[in-house]
Amino acid sequence: MGSETFNPTENPLRAGLRMGRSPEPCTMVIFGATGDLTSRKLVPALYNLARERRLAAGFSVVGFARRDWSDEHFREVLLNGINAYSRSGAAETALWENFAQGVSYHRSDFSDHDGYARLAQRLDAIDVERGAGGNRVFYLATPPDAYAEIIQQLGAHGLARSPNGGWTRIIVEKPFGRDLGSAQELNRQLLAVFDEDQIYRIDHYLGKETVQNILVFRFANGIFEPIWSRRYIDHVQITVSESIGVEDRGGYYDQSGALRDMIQNHLMQLLALVAMEPPVSYDANAVRDEKVKVLRAIRPIAPEAVNEFTVRGQYDTGSIMGKPISSYRSERGVAPDSQTETYAALKLFIESWRWAGVPFYLRSGKALPRRVSEIAIQFRSAPLMLFDDLPTNEVEPNTLAIKIQPDEGITLKFSSKAPGQTSQIRPVTMDFRYGSSFGVASPEAYERLLLDSLIGDGTLFTRRDEVEASWSLMTPILQGWAAEAPRNFPNYEAGVWGPLEADDFMARDGRIWRRL
Ligand code: BG6
Repeated sequence: MGSETFNPTENPLRAGLRMGRSPEPCTMVIFGATGDLTSRKLVPALYNLARERRLAAGFSVVGFARRDWSDEHFREVLLNGINAYSRSGAAETALWENFAQGVSYHRSDFSDHDGYARLAQRLDAIDVERGAGGNRVFYLATPPDAYAEIIQQLGAHGLARSPNGGWTRIIVEKPFGRDLGSAQELNRQLLAVFDEDQIYRIDHYLGKETVQNILVFRFANGIFEPIWSRRYIDHVQITVSESIGVEDRGGYYDQSGALRDMIQNHLMQLLALVAMEPPVSYDANAVRDEKVKVLRAIRPIAPEAVNEFTVRGQYDTGSIMGKPISSYRSERGVAPDSQTETYAALKLFIESWRWAGVPFYLRSGKALPRRVSEIAIQFRSAPLMLFDDLPTNEVEPNTLAIKIQPDEGITLKFSSKAPGQTSQIRPVTMDFRYGSSFGVASPEAYERLLLDSLIGDGTLFTRRDEVEASWSLMTPILQGWAAEAPRNFPNYEAGVWGPLEADDFMARDGRIWRRL
């Protein structure tokens, strides 16, 4: 492109990255504020935003929950949370005291009318005292069975619209439904009270730096896009493995499983970012239009076809890094004969001109040997091998690995001549690592997402049609699985890479899972 046509101030991608953005003053009401998410993730993220002077002076937090806590006790719990979980370490006294001035606790049941009437008065008072200008964000951090009640109560008390020309937004935590029907129902409940552009459905994977970098990598570089298609790509593997079991979340997880907990949201979002067409601009709706198009182009897996296109597993007793792990079925909150999958793998095909015939293999599981999230693009092999009669299939194919965590970065593997008198070929890698290239720690996903919600940028949040498109792919799989109980659960030891069936699943296609 000639330089006369390139105006960096108009470059949509650059404009979209929106450096140095700062939100208006506002009040964030966190429903379910006594829960883990608030003290582990939300408030440490807000504190770090305050530390980086990203929050307006009048920013306030109101914790809404059932327990009989005082403002002081709430603040103390939040401070302990920052000290324990903030990436910037223990809270700085002056900064915390300033932040804490805007923090208060509101005791109420989620179904108590009076609690919402008092909340409305309180928010009006905060508008005056702290200059919040009627700007409000409601954060649903409760168990999902409370969402409908809270949404309806906010509507009934006139809290979905702001006074004084301010704005009101609502952030909805996952899980967003447990199948297509329940996700559609939750969307209906939300849209009866809020407009779509007020609704921020959170998927914390989209807040990770490395995930945001997928679009920059693809669309701010000229060399990858031409080869990003069926012509050059053999297949794609998306892995999100965890080396922990379900820990203290057995009660929730046993009702959920790997497909609902990880694949429907996080892995499908990664797939959408890797496979989407270039958007017309880096604008919330343009990006989401392309993501939803690619999700809709995925060929659904019919319930009868689950054995061909999916694998499920559940971990048994084992050990990870020398630490004994008890079986999933013996975890607290888990049924002793549970049929819930703690591992799932899928093969998906995107029926588009770019991707026809290219399998996307997705896998995610708990109690695996390592915590790794990565997307690997495996390219087709060279068509002929010139060197010493070496058959093509003995040379490893080129692979581009986008490493989301840990060891954030991007690696390209290619073949190289080993030094010496023969044509020995060995795989080598070119590595980009965030740590060494930038030398600064990345913000936590929640920092980015909370800031975006305060600014009103929905690009990294999931739109109604995306959530429904993803659930419409998962629901027939869940139905197929429900129709045939797994006969061999538990079928992998904690500390191995999932059930043997997962290897056979790849072997049937003449492929192997990446060793991570
Ligand atoms: C959550 C799941 O959404 O993501 C958890 O509910 C999982 O089960 C977590 O452990 C993984 O997130 P991260 O950021 O640690 O990869």
